[in-house]
Amino acid sequence: MDQTPPSRPFHVPVLVDEVVRLFAPVAEGLIVDGTFGGGGHTEALLRAFPALRVVGVDRDPDAVARAPRHPRLVVVRGNFARLRAAVAAATGEAADELAVDGVLLDLGISSHQVDEPARGFSFHRAGPLDMRMGPDAARSAAELVNEADAAELRRIFATFGEERYARRIAEAIVRARPVHDTAELAAIVAAAVPAAARRARHPARRVFQALRIAVNAELDALERGLDEALELLRPGGRIVVISYHSLEDRIVKRRFAAGAAGCSCPPDLPVCVCGAPAELRILTRRPLRPSPEEIARNPRARSARLRAAEKGGAR
Ligand SMILES: C[S@@+](CC[C@H](N)C(=O)[O-])C[C@H]1O[C@@H](n2cnc3c(N)ncnc32)[C@H](O)[C@@H]1O
Repeated sequence: MDQTPPSRPFHVPVLVDEVVRLFAPVAEGLIVDGTFGGGGHTEALLRAFPALRVVGVDRDPDAVARAPRHPRLVVVRGNFARLRAAVAAATGEAADELAVDGVLLDLGISSHQVDEPARGFSFHRAGPLDMRMGPDAARSAAELVNEADAAELRRIFATFGEERYARRIAEAIVRARPVHDTAELAAIVAAAVPAAARRARHPARRVFQALRIAVNAELDALERGLDEALELLRPGGRIVVISYHSLEDRIVKRRFAAGAAGCSCPPDLPVCVCGAPAELRILTRRPLRPSPEEIARNPRARSARLRAAEKGGAR
């Protein structure tokens, strides 16, 4: 794809070879990249498979605006929670007649989003408390931080950040209101936790993760997106999901396990031979992880976990 390289990469895709390998059996079909971002995975797939077509979807208008032109690629703004509608908008086909050969979800946020202070995702950079991946998010982080009551903030930090000091942090935020920006929020969190908790990693890391998940309703989108993706897949179609924290990975693991209930074939068999009807065949018994070399090249890959599955039935 022709793209002028920006001074800083929009995003460095993770586990690219693994993604390409897993989609090889559907290389002549249509794959939906439901988290287009900087298009790195899509670029690798289009390069590897000359007959493949890709529909890219992203919530973020920046990702769509920066998408390169390519004769086998269409990119639209949309939420993968409503994947069918997004793909219908991209292809012009009737939503209820659509079927695709592959779906890729590379969850979370892109480096571009983290690195851009105006988006408000980073506790390292002063910026507005925004954290919306796109305009479809109902509330910004500022609205949550300054308007939610202490009980709701505590629930968000405990559930989506697995934050041990959720109550102390929520109460400190409520006392300090109005909170104006990300730097102020990071300082309030740091002051609210015991000194020992400040030593290992930045104390605001979990709180920022939790707010981001709440603002973008990320886990809800993932549950809906998985259902929509599995419904859209043709028999023999493949889904690949890369997650970055245990809350996401758990949802993927459970949905795949529920879909695979019935089939007892080992993951390395090319087709199901046990005959038990199952919606899915799991292709990764354990999640794939980046190699130490990949993590050294791209430290943001370190928490990535890839799971893949194939839709049951004859192609
Ligand atoms: C980790 S990045 C993807 C990077 C991409 N694979 C690449 O190679 O550049 C995640 C992207 O998914 C988008 N995203 C996250 N949740 C989404 C959702 N529910 N619907 C659509 N896009 C979403 C984000 O805006 C972000 O651009």
